[in-house]
Amino acid sequence: MRFIEAAALAALTVPIAARDNFDFRVNQPRRLVAVQRPSPNRVTGNTIPLGRANTKTNSLSAGYLQAIRSGQHVDGVYSRLQNGTAQLLSVNAGSVFLAPLQAGGEMFEVVIDTGSSDTWLVNNQFTCVDPTDSEVIDESQCAFGPTYSLSSTAEQVPNRNFNISYADGERLNGQIITEDLTFAGITVENQTMGLVTVVGWYGDGTSSGLVGLAYVSLTNQYGGSNPSADVGGLNIPYNPLLTSMFVENLTAPIFSIALDRDVAQTAQAAGGVLAVGGIPNIPHGSSWASANISVVGIDAATGQPEYQFYAIRVDGWAVSKNWNADFDVKMTGNTRKTPLLHAPTYNVIVDSGTTLIYAPTDVAAALAAAFDPPSTISSTYGLYTVACNATVPRFGVAVSSKIFYINPLDLIIDTGLGFCVLGVQSNNGGYTIIGDVFMRNVLTVFDVGAAQVRFSARQCQLTNGAITIGGKADYF
Ligand SMILES: *[C@@H]1O[C@H](CO)[C@@H](O)[C@H](O)[C@H]1NC(C)=O
Ligand SMILES: *[C@@H]1O[C@H](CO)[C@@H](O)[C@H](O)[C@H]1NC(C)=O
Ligand SMILES: *[C@@H]1O[C@H](CO)[C@@H](O)[C@H](O)[C@H]1NC(C)=O
Ligand SMILES: *[C@@H]1O[C@H](CO)[C@@H](O)[C@H](O)[C@H]1NC(C)=O
Ligand SMILES: *[C@@H]1O[C@H](CO)[C@@H](O)[C@H](O)[C@H]1NC(C)=O
Ligand SMILES: *[C@@H]1O[C@H](CO)[C@@H](O)[C@H](O)[C@H]1NC(C)=O
Repeated sequence: MRFIEAAALAALTVPIAARDNFDFRVNQPRRLVAVQRPSPNRVTGNTIPLGRANTKTNSLSAGYLQAIRSGQHVDGVYSRLQNGTAQLLSVNAGSVFLAPLQAGGEMFEVVIDTGSSDTWLVNNQFTCVDPTDSEVIDESQCAFGPTYSLSSTAEQVPNRNFNISYADGERLNGQIITEDLTFAGITVENQTMGLVTVVGWYGDGTSSGLVGLAYVSLTNQYGGSNPSADVGGLNIPYNPLLTSMFVENLTAPIFSIALDRDVAQTAQAAGGVLAVGGIPNIPHGSSWASANISVVGIDAATGQPEYQFYAIRVDGWAVSKNWNADFDVKMTGNTRKTPLLHAPTYNVIVDSGTTLIYAPTDVAAALAAAFDPPSTISSTYGLYTVACNATVPRFGVAVSSKIFYINPLDLIIDTGLGFCVLGVQSNNGGYTIIGDVFMRNVLTVFDVGAAQVRFSARQCQLTNGAITIGGKADYF
C-alpha cells in the first residue's frame, strides 16, 4: 500500500563518501491514486505525545532537503552548494520528536521520523563508531537511552541484514528481527524491524531507536549477512509498522500530527501529538481544507533508491501589512480584495522535519518587506534577518480556498546568537517547503487511503504578550 506522510528526516542511502557532494535527480511529481474514500476525522484515543530532544546534529532531513533547496537547478539536477548554509543548519539544529514504543513488553523512547520507514532499536551490545571517520569510539558517545535485548516474542530473521545511512553521515548496521510492537496503543505482532549493532549516531541521551512513518519503498532490509555487500544492492521491501497496522486493518488508514509551539525554546519542551487512525482531541477550527497529494521523487543521481516527498498545491500566499486585509482567496480578480501572491504554487512539500517555510522568492521578498522595520537578506548568512522586536505583517498560506494564517510567534525566530531570522525564507528557486513554522498552526491529517492531506486551523494560545494580534484572527 502506498503511504502518505509528512516527508521528513530523509534516509539517504548514498555511499557515505559521496555525502558532501550530492547530485540530485528530481523526477516529475505524479499524482497518487486513492485506494479508498477519505476516512473520517474521528477523534481517537490512539495518540502519542511527542517529546522534543536536542541532538548534537542538525535534524536528519535538513542536510538533505537543504542540499536540494540550495542547489543549482540544471536540467532537473540539483547540486549541493557548499557555502551559505552553515548558519542555517545551526538555526535549524537539534529538534527531533520523540515518542514511546513498546517492544516485547518493554518501553523505549524513540525518534519519530516521517521521512524514513524502518523501525529500529539499539542492541544491548553494540559498537559505536564516529560517523565522520568510522573510528570505534566509546559507547557513551552514541548517547542512547536504554538498550534493547531480544525478548521471548522476538526472532531473528535469517540471511538478512539491516543497513541504513542518513544524509548527515549517520549510519546503522545490524540484524533484521520480528517483534511485537505497540505504538499509539495499537499492537502489531511479529513486526519486521532493525536491531542495530554497529552504530554511527548522534544520540540525544534519551532515545533508543527510531520509528519511521513512511512507506514500504523506503525500508532498508538487505539479503545476506554482510552489510558491505549491500552497496548498490536492492533492498528487500517489507511492510513498516504503520503500513502493517493499515494492512492488517488494525486502524483506519490515516494519521495526524499537531506540533506545539516551543515559545520558551526550552530543551525538553512538549513537541505536540501524533494520532493513528484519527485525530487527537485538541481544539481546532470547524472547517477542513483538503488537497490531493502528489509524489516528488528525488534520488541521488548515482544512487539506487528514490526518496519520495509528498507535495500539495498551494492556492497562493497571503501577505499584508494590514491585519484587516480581505484576501481574494478564490482569485476572482475583485479589485477591492488583496490578491494572493504566487498563485497557484505547485508541488509544495509538507514536511514536519523542516523547521522553516521555504517560499517562492517573490513571496519571501514581499513578506520581508512588510515587516516594520523591513527584513533584509544578511550578506553574512544569506538569510532574511529581522529586528527581534519588528512589527509582524499578516501572513497566511491558502489551501483549497482557505487561508491558514501563521502566528507572529512563528515568524520571528531568535537564533540565540544575538539576531533573529524570518520563519519564512526564500526557496532560491528550489522546492517550496512548508515546515514546522506552518505545521504548528494547523492540525494535519495524512489520509493514506484517500491520498490526500487535510488541514484545520489550531486554537493558538498567545503567551508572548509583546506581540499584538489584530484583525480576523479566527484561528485563535
Ligand atoms: C557561494 O558560492 C558562490 C559560487 O561559488 C559565490 O558566488 C558566492 O559568493 C558564495 N557565497 C558566499 C556567501 O560565500
Ligand atoms: C509470530 O511469530 C511466532 C513465532 O515466532 C508465531 O508463533 C506466531 O504465530 C506469529 N504470530 C502471528 C500473528 O503471525
Ligand atoms: C551498508 O553498510 C556498509 C558498512 O557500514 C556500508 O559500507 C554501505 O554503504 C551500506 N550500504 C547501504 C546501502 O546503506
Ligand atoms: C476493517 O475494520 C473495520 C472496523 O473494525 C471494519 O468495519 C471493516 O469491515 C474491516 N475491513 C476489512 C477489510 O476487514
Ligand atoms: C483530487 O483527487 C480526486 C480523486 O482522485 C479528484 O476527484 C479531484 O478532482 C482532485 N482535486 C483536485 C483539486 O485536483
Ligand atoms: C527594538 O530594538 C531596538 C534595538 O534593540 C531598539 O533600538 C528599538 O528601540 C526597539 N524598538 C521598539 C519599538 O521597541
